[in-house]
Amino acid sequence: MTSKKDVLVEDRAPSTDEFRKHVLEGLRKPQKAISSKFLYDERGSEIFEKITDVADYYPTRSERKILLSRGDEIAELIGEKAAVIEPGSGNSEKVPMLLDRLVDPVAYIPIEISQEFLVRASEEIAAKYPGLEVLPVCADFTQPLDMPLPKRKATRNLVFFPGGTIGNLHPSEAAHFLERFRSMAGDAGAVLIGVDLVKDHGVIERAYNDSEGVTADFNLNLIDRMNREIGADFDRDAFRHHAPFNTEESRIEMHLVSQREQTVTIDGESFHFDEGEPIVTEYSYKYTPERFREVAHQAGLEVAKLWTDDDALFSLQLCVTKIEGSPNWVEK
Ligand code: AVJ
Repeated sequence: MTSKKDVLVEDRAPSTDEFRKHVLEGLRKPQKAISSKFLYDERGSEIFEKITDVADYYPTRSERKILLSRGDEIAELIGEKAAVIEPGSGNSEKVPMLLDRLVDPVAYIPIEISQEFLVRASEEIAAKYPGLEVLPVCADFTQPLDMPLPKRKATRNLVFFPGGTIGNLHPSEAAHFLERFRSMAGDAGAVLIGVDLVKDHGVIERAYNDSEGVTADFNLNLIDRMNREIGADFDRDAFRHHAPFNTEESRIEMHLVSQREQTVTIDGESFHFDEGEPIVTEYSYKYTPERFREVAHQAGLEVAKLWTDDDALFSLQLCVTKIEGSPNWVEK
């Protein structure tokens, strides 16, 4: 006798209540701010995909160039039989550039909060790499979790975190993230991470104020989302996207700037905006190699190798656990 199996879907995406609570708290602050994680609803994620193709937006393209041109070198440093762990794997579209080059990787362990993305991506990777054990974990990787153990013994764990997302965190938070990655990687482990670099401020600002207006659309979608999901009464046309580079903090700041003095109401609560007053919606920190090395150190990691594209716009950095007696990792 067979019975149909129930599929249990655990939805851990932030709820509408969490969103409302966060927005209300964020708009009560003297410096109005909303966490960038709320930019990525379904529509926001679609627009972000479009950003990665925009001519002015260099990070995605630069990172791909590095992976393609340096893949063999990266693979050689990592060595054979690695277990690749990818926190926040999404659609797993970048990891093939790594898996194609690694020698006999034992497992791919994607960690993703969206079950839908995780299942589809895992199936695709498993189909593309028949000898590879795929061990998906549906979880919020920022919380403690148990790692599955591959059947074949891995020489080392490699945590793969491309995309430059580490830059959306304040450097002290970034250090905490890296510490989590270090513990996932374990002894003799490594972290391969995409880090955007400080460069000509004009180049950076053009990437976040693109001439096609895609980034503006991405930012303004947050206004649509607040109106749609929590009944806010924002006038979308009364706000403009603006993303200046803050030199002191070495970060891009995405702002939604009120075009006039106005009041917005959410849940019966009024929020006053002066003309020119911004809501901060995202930071994107840009690092010098030296500054990122310090952040890695704080997390107990050593930068063994840094690769950039030919224009030195973006970097991929291989960080390794600092253990006495494993100098083979770190280039002298
Ligand atoms: C790829 C998520 C790191 O900060 O460059 C792109 C997000 N924001 N354009 C970045 C983003 C505006 C992006 N991350």
